[in-house]
Amino acid sequence: MLTKVHTGLEPVQGVWWKPAHKAEKVWVAVAFAWCMVLFAMMPLWHWKGGQNPSGVRTRVDPKAYFARTVAFAQQYKVGDDRGVPIVQPPPGADVYLAGLTYSWYPILQLEQGKEYMLHISSVDVNHGFSLYPLNVNFAVVPTFDYALRVTPTAAGDFRIICNEFCGIGHHTMVGRVIVVDSAGRSVADNTGARVGQGGVR
Ligand code: CUA
Repeated sequence: MLTKVHTGLEPVQGVWWKPAHKAEKVWVAVAFAWCMVLFAMMPLWHWKGGQNPSGVRTRVDPKAYFARTVAFAQQYKVGDDRGVPIVQPPPGADVYLAGLTYSWYPILQLEQGKEYMLHISSVDVNHGFSLYPLNVNFAVVPTFDYALRVTPTAAGDFRIICNEFCGIGHHTMVGRVIVVDSAGRSVADNTGARVGQGGVR
């Protein structure tokens, strides 16, 4: 006896092809409209939210970048922390920071309320620049010099934590940014620091 087999080419009997209920149409429309709102938020947040920096990006040879960073560190060195130079550039200067497995070079000492052009790049693999305890994050990519206009708004002794897995020593990759106030004090109190419109307040 021939048994009728469902092939998938013919629709099975049921009710699923009936026109959608009005409520279903309304909910699909609501979901679609919300998708469009979220989609529009992406570019809007770039310009209005102050979350994405409009930094200057240029291609750079990692060796040349590191050589530039070492020269910068020697030029403005004011101290030393376990072999890593503490560097205090004058306000307005170009500041160079290099990520390398597994450290940040050098230690930056900046003045509160003064603007700097902070260059960040990697000498080897991808790293992540995360300024603790603030919510500031940047990808640190070799062959790209990412320059950010920064104005430290709170004195303190901050830590840079690598937030991109870069190898066996990733968790030990911690750097320092010291921000001194107009009296030259680096108050080890970061509680007043805030992230707001256009960057760190
Ligand atoms: Cu560098 Cu993780």
